[in-house]
Amino acid sequence: MSKSYTSYGDRGFSQFLRRAFNRHLGYSETDFDKPVIGICNTSSEINRCHSHLGPLIEAIKRGVIMAGGVPLEFPTISLGEINTSPTTMLYRNLAAMDTEEMIRAQPIDGVVLLGGCDKVTPAQLMGAVSADIPAIMFTGGPMANGEYEGRTLGACSDCRFFWQEYRGGKVSEEELVKINAALAPTAGHCMVMGSASTMAVCSEALGLMLPGAAAIPATHNQRLAAAQETGKQIVEAVNRDLKPSNILTLGSFENAIRLLMAVGGSSNAVIHLIAIAGRMGIELPLRLFDELSRTTPFLANLRPAGKYQMEDLFRAGGAPAVLKELSPLLHLNEMTITGQPIGEWLKDITISETYRDIVHPYDKPLHTEGGIAILHGNLAPNGAVIKTKAASQSLLSHRGKAIVFTSAEDLEARINDPELDVKEDDILVLQYAGPVGAPGMPEVGMLPIPDKLLKQGVRDMVRISDARMSGTAFGTVVLHVTPEAAVGGTIALVRTGDEIELDVERRSLQLLVPEEELTRRRSEWTPLEMTGRGYTRLYREHVLQADKGCDFDFLLPDRSKEPK
Ligand code: FES
Repeated sequence: MSKSYTSYGDRGFSQFLRRAFNRHLGYSETDFDKPVIGICNTSSEINRCHSHLGPLIEAIKRGVIMAGGVPLEFPTISLGEINTSPTTMLYRNLAAMDTEEMIRAQPIDGVVLLGGCDKVTPAQLMGAVSADIPAIMFTGGPMANGEYEGRTLGACSDCRFFWQEYRGGKVSEEELVKINAALAPTAGHCMVMGSASTMAVCSEALGLMLPGAAAIPATHNQRLAAAQETGKQIVEAVNRDLKPSNILTLGSFENAIRLLMAVGGSSNAVIHLIAIAGRMGIELPLRLFDELSRTTPFLANLRPAGKYQMEDLFRAGGAPAVLKELSPLLHLNEMTITGQPIGEWLKDITISETYRDIVHPYDKPLHTEGGIAILHGNLAPNGAVIKTKAASQSLLSHRGKAIVFTSAEDLEARINDPELDVKEDDILVLQYAGPVGAPGMPEVGMLPIPDKLLKQGVRDMVRISDARMSGTAFGTVVLHVTPEAAVGGTIALVRTGDEIELDVERRSLQLLVPEEELTRRRSEWTPLEMTGRGYTRLYREHVLQADKGCDFDFLLPDRSKEPK
């Protein structure tokens, strides 16, 4: 065992103590001469995406033992998207700290990160990168497809779609009850290319997950087989001392960004990848995402931007099939947890022609560019994000009148007011919903279409906020406006009736208000009062803006210890 004594006091006594206490599971003294593998167990009955991890942990343990290691599971925070208030993003950094400190504090040589739901996977990667011992990611896997009246259902794109149709009067109460029962039919995380699926496939591209593991459905026997392989591989990684710092480089992050763009992945991944890279001291400027998006073909036909779901991607070869097609654009020499550079294991990947509508060939893409664009302009001086392929193409160039909501509460109170003066061409703006403002940057960016417009048949409008939206959501939604309103960003100065111009082709987001007027409004702006206590207070005082990954400033690498 790497740390066979405590970091204080009499070394002999501490070894004696640990040996005595480590016999609790029946292990002998010499068992701990083998690589000791910690397994971050994020099982939870409240987080339904992690409620099925028991058999996977058993399979990982089998793999570890087969490869000559000793597996020991330990608990870390579990964050479930639906049941965590006010938003899981508030707790991503707490989970990252928990993971990092438990990895560092305990006597383990390597670690299996058992993730799944949206924020758990990036939190674990952030923590493991900072702890920097051999680490491998494994997830609970996506749910199998849902089905209603012959139509495939996907959580939670269809949760939003059918709720909107219900509000628009197109779906009855009775149908809604049946759809609700069919939306999430098995264990596992959301099965569209939402944030959970996106971070899982990006883990493969980064080199920190076994090839093909991300897309295997949660309840498929191949997931158990992959869990067992993961257990074997982490022992191998310990034997080679293959740590995140030996694997992650700017090139591996660029590979992950290419994959994000090619699969139409979640806008949340932009924030998470910046945060994970930040732990390595690697900067991923928003302009890099835009540059790679413009030069990456959109290949995977997956909801919410496309037609299929993770179960279908699994049949088509999973993330490796997409990466194989992307090979001409990848850094093929980047090391992976397999001990091979990504280009090496991609050599053996073949793609069946049967599934070509799911993973399109490099030279016959669904779209010539990737799924996310980065916008700049006086309304977002440090950037904003839009998921272009999940938007209405007719609205990507649009000028309209702002209807402003000053908080999520204000939005809820007024959006369906019959007196609200709002038309289809207007632009809905939500302020003070960013990392500091909300706090925690909740997924409220897909502002609901007002009931009265829904009933007229309107299904999309331009919406702008400093919030995020779920990776499963859709619409012409501009997100992550930076700086956010709570720190004095221009978005705080927008007033109802102002003109806003969105031009995605030019990557531009402009508030068409004269500069003198903006200066006047700025002079009247008062900073948000910092309320709250405990962790929420710490969060508000230390969280970075979205373009910096929303990590805490004090969790970035300590540069003071580097040689000058
Ligand atoms: Fe966990 Fe959707 S609720 S991934």
